[in-house]
Amino acid sequence: MTTTTTTPGTPAPGTGSGGAVLDASGVTMRFGGLTAVRDVNLDVHAGEIVGLIGPNGAGKTTFFNCLTGLYIPTEGTVRYRGTVLPHRSHLVTQAGIARTFQNIRLFANMTVLENVLVGRHTRTHEGLFSALVRGPRFRRAERESEERAMDLLRFTGLETKREHLARNLPYGEQRKLEIARALASEPGLLLLDEPTAGMTAVETTATRELVLAIRAQGTAVLVIEHDMRFIFNLCDRVAVLVRGEKLVEGTPETVQRDERVVAAYLGTPFEGEPGQAEAAEVQAAEEAEAAAHRDTAGGADAHPPDPADRRQEGRTD
Ligand SMILES: Nc1ncnc2c1ncn2[C@@H]1O[C@H](COP(=O)(O)OP(=O)(O)OP(=O)(O)O)[C@@H](O)[C@H]1O
Ligand SMILES: [Mg+2]
Repeated sequence: MTTTTTTPGTPAPGTGSGGAVLDASGVTMRFGGLTAVRDVNLDVHAGEIVGLIGPNGAGKTTFFNCLTGLYIPTEGTVRYRGTVLPHRSHLVTQAGIARTFQNIRLFANMTVLENVLVGRHTRTHEGLFSALVRGPRFRRAERESEERAMDLLRFTGLETKREHLARNLPYGEQRKLEIARALASEPGLLLLDEPTAGMTAVETTATRELVLAIRAQGTAVLVIEHDMRFIFNLCDRVAVLVRGEKLVEGTPETVQRDERVVAAYLGTPFEGEPGQAEAAEVQAAEEAEAAAHRDTAGGADAHPPDPADRRQEGRTD
């Protein structure tokens, strides 16, 4: 039995080639009569942060589930660094793809540190015998894992919470802990499903910085989010899913300008003469409503910024 842990500083698997880390081709997922994902192609390259957006029920999480072996796609293949992935989630993690979940999945009654240590198990090959005997090799592996886990807690800003139970963390920190745990498997690609859901503006900004730092360390990122400001300020490329199909893909600038995207989000049909007039109409109505609200509320600070306005603002950096 051997002990193999990756020492800090070793490049994570799946990085450094500059090529396609993820290559999803013709992915289709049907549930009975419902086609949740239809013939979706998507690449993510080393060093990239790619956004996946779309209205509720568009198939984003289902697509993630197809990438990570939770679902076996009805059609299509998913490759990680050129190799077709098996339909088993722990083998996908072992290959180099880690994820977080839309509905946080932590071990609520374990400490913060223990949760991260659980995420390490795909990178440690300590056998049962060695663990029972707790010989020097086991203790060394355990120490290395703990050091690596503490590195990740520092990286995500959770080091002072190491002994707290996961369930006692505020929501924003639980989301960070999920990211730390995912990073513990040393992924070449990290999939984030709505990492800023329920976060304050300050927490969202911190999450943006964290994702940029993750990329800087050599892990590519594919991120689902409904917060358009977050997506357009963060991503190199954005793909839009609507009713299971990839509608548009391109730079944040291209996607923001695409009338079909605006129409899809506003719920107007995108066939034929699409949304600009309707979008302007809706915006005018919203502005009138906001003005009326300001008047009745006595002016200042009556309304938070409207997401539709933010959507138009684009990248700020
Ligand atoms: N296991 C399942 N069985 C049957 N239908 C499912 C299953 N999982 C998802 N669906 C359906 O597939 C469609 C896509 O759902 P999915 O959760 O992927 O959307 P989403 O884009 O992630 O939405 P949201 O932004 O609300 O999270 C929905 O109609 C959903 O009801
Ligand atoms: Mg979802």
